[in-house]
Amino acid sequence: MLELNETIKEHFRNPKNVGEIENPEGMGTIDNPVCGDTTKLYLRIKNGVVEEAKFLSFGCAVTIASASVFTEKIKGKEISKLFLGTDDEIVQRLVGLIENELGEIPAVKLHCPPATVQVFLNAIRGYLEKEGRIDLSSRARRLIPKISEYYKRGEEKD
Ligand code: FES
Repeated sequence: MLELNETIKEHFRNPKNVGEIENPEGMGTIDNPVCGDTTKLYLRIKNGVVEEAKFLSFGCAVTIASASVFTEKIKGKEISKLFLGTDDEIVQRLVGLIENELGEIPAVKLHCPPATVQVFLNAIRGYLEKEGRIDLSSRARRLIPKISEYYKRGEEKD
């Protein structure tokens, strides 16, 4: 039986920001190739700042906890600032929003937080494209497969 810490359990039992946003500025989905978990993320964005984020998920406890934390932490963030630095710095910044809050995650579940970040990048990519921010949208597109490398952290720990 998988041991999950209290923070993860609490977000799983009482997830924040579950639901949809009507006519969202950004919407992304993921069907995780590792486990089949599915998550949809909706973003309300005004003046380049994330005002609201909501999600729907058919996923494991860590996926739901990750989406709950991420949708909380991403609110109020300026999108251009999230993309400052190298690709690795961006990925660590985004994955860190979840992992710094959730604490220790079982090795077999280490792909769940990066998968949530992939949904976000999917959602933000479309928004940036519409806004004509081709530089940032191409970067977001490039980072989506790169984050899959983070999935392997769990295998290394096994
Ligand atoms: Fe795959 Fe959680 S088990 S995203």
